[in-house]
Amino acid sequence: MAEYDIAVIGGDGIGPEVTREALRVLDATASVFGFKVRRTEYPFGTDHYLKTQEIFPESAFSEVKQKRAIYLGAIGDPRVPVGLIEYGIIAKCRFELDLYINLRPVKLYDSSLCPLKDKTPEDVDMVFIRENTEDAYSGSHGFTHKGQHHEVAVQTMVYTRLGVERAIRYAFQLARERNKKRQVTLIDKANAVRAQDIWTRVFAEVAKEYPDIKTDHAYIDAACMWMVKNPEWFDVAVTPNLFGDIITDLGAMVQGGMGIAASGNLHPGKVSLFEPIHGSAPKHAGQDKASPVAAIMAVSMMLDYLGEKRAANAIEEAVITLLRSKRLKGVGTGVHRGTEVGNMVVAEIQGATARV
Ligand code: IPM
Ligand code: MG
Repeated sequence: MAEYDIAVIGGDGIGPEVTREALRVLDATASVFGFKVRRTEYPFGTDHYLKTQEIFPESAFSEVKQKRAIYLGAIGDPRVPVGLIEYGIIAKCRFELDLYINLRPVKLYDSSLCPLKDKTPEDVDMVFIRENTEDAYSGSHGFTHKGQHHEVAVQTMVYTRLGVERAIRYAFQLARERNKKRQVTLIDKANAVRAQDIWTRVFAEVAKEYPDIKTDHAYIDAACMWMVKNPEWFDVAVTPNLFGDIITDLGAMVQGGMGIAASGNLHPGKVSLFEPIHGSAPKHAGQDKASPVAAIMAVSMMLDYLGEKRAANAIEEAVITLLRSKRLKGVGTGVHRGTEVGNMVVAEIQGATARV
């Protein structure tokens, strides 16, 4: 029986409660599909920091590095300075584990979830490859004359040949494996951020190795427009980190909201991290009302990454069936308690497998 060691960080706000439901789904799936998941839970997040002044100690970080995957609920809390926990946990993992791909599928499971007029699941089925270790996120920043009227603030945008090329190559490979439109769209702003010319050049070079894959290009501003007007134009899209952060929130809304969108932070072949795209929503914490669907879909992505493809698909199919049959009445609509959604998904996975 395959066994996987994973680290779990529930984190802040609604993170722990959506993680709890996601892990119940993970356990149910493991017993149905015959694999074992050993979990080590870590208490890191804002509460832990306020109690101990500890964010992500090196001893724990070196343990986490040895796992097959990391599962993260959500982080962020207004009681501590902006960015402290974000950089101490998620950015630390992304940078120090070199999780260079942020994989963000945007897939509409049922037309009723889409805020766009007349768009169906056939129109909304794309994957964003967000470069995950560079750009403004890793550029150095600083302030001079801080607090004075002539204060200067700078932050650089950094793109390396290595970083750009591996993201673009991953996108082409994925377009081939998905075998849908067999198309990769480069999204950048090279007309204004001239350093992004490196994206233009490397994209053209890598494209030559994939003559079977069509290429397309959109500046980020236009891409936002097309996402709303013609989401069916996209298949795989690759983009620098900061634009990827923004456009995938837009993507999440197009697929039904932050309650459904999940992501993988990958270093192919190495320990990788899976999380819902949504934040910690502190004001909803502890009320069992946040949608755990995104967290559950992050489990599905994790299982796909670990090679448990059937289990990963079963989770996705369960969510689709529940939504299309209207037993699950939307996501984040406040109709269901989080635990109720967890129960439904668990029962659907168990039932669907019992039926075959
Ligand atoms: C995300 C988040 C993070 C990001 C924050 C929490 C730093 O918005 O994963 O999309 O900007 O990458
Ligand atoms: Mg974001």
